[in-house]
Amino acid sequence: AATGGVVVAVDGTSGSGKSSTSRGVADRLGLRYLDTGAMYRAVTCWMLRHGVDVHDAEAVAARSDEPRLESGTDPLAPTILLDGDDVSTAIRRDDVNAAVSPVSAVPEVRERLTAAMRSLIREAAEGPGIVVEGRDIGSVVWPDAQVKVYLSAAAAARASRRALEEGGSDVEATRASLLARDQIDSGRAVAPLVRADGAVHVDTTGHTLDEVIGIVVGLVRDRAGAP
Ligand code: DC
Repeated sequence: AATGGVVVAVDGTSGSGKSSTSRGVADRLGLRYLDTGAMYRAVTCWMLRHGVDVHDAEAVAARSDEPRLESGTDPLAPTILLDGDDVSTAIRRDDVNAAVSPVSAVPEVRERLTAAMRSLIREAAEGPGIVVEGRDIGSVVWPDAQVKVYLSAAAAARASRRALEEGGSDVEATRASLLARDQIDSGRAVAPLVRADGAVHVDTTGHTLDEVIGIVVGLVRDRAGAP
């Protein structure tokens, strides 16, 4: 395929539509898909299960290379295994939502997961190519990505979208939790959420998912010569 080897970095805030957009783009262009937030969530899940105090950065760092992760890269069936267990559902729980930002601010956690991401990306880039979503993909993990997208959306739109995804949880509580995470993710010392050099900013407020997928597919075709 003409898309062979393309790496598409999709960064942005929680609830900006990153996951649905990235999966849709990968599906339409026949690319693999990697959800790097799921990797941070799975490590967080492991810390909670093992009674590690997630607000104690040294304690988290000390155990950061113990969790065994396996990330699936099928855009139609994203899965993540933790020590052999499918935790795809468990990583979306509230206790993980509340703990993932402090865990992902720990440099040792980031180093280890960044290395794992790079090897998955390298492998996919030798084949069909891949869409990778996260916070620091275009800035840190894979700065050479041929296409970089920075997605954002107004807070109200993000909260109602995420509350719906979570099966009708309270919109106001969801909004507060999203904003709290964004603040930590954007303010942390290592690899904060930023718009990477060369990233195209797409504000998804007021756009349907199909429209946003169409915009990103267009960027990939323009920049990477996909059909
Ligand atoms: O995209 P998400 O909401 O599933 O991400 C969960 C958390 O993981 C988010 O609060 C920040 C962190 N994260 C990160 O620090 N770097 C990434 N590349 C992806 C996610």
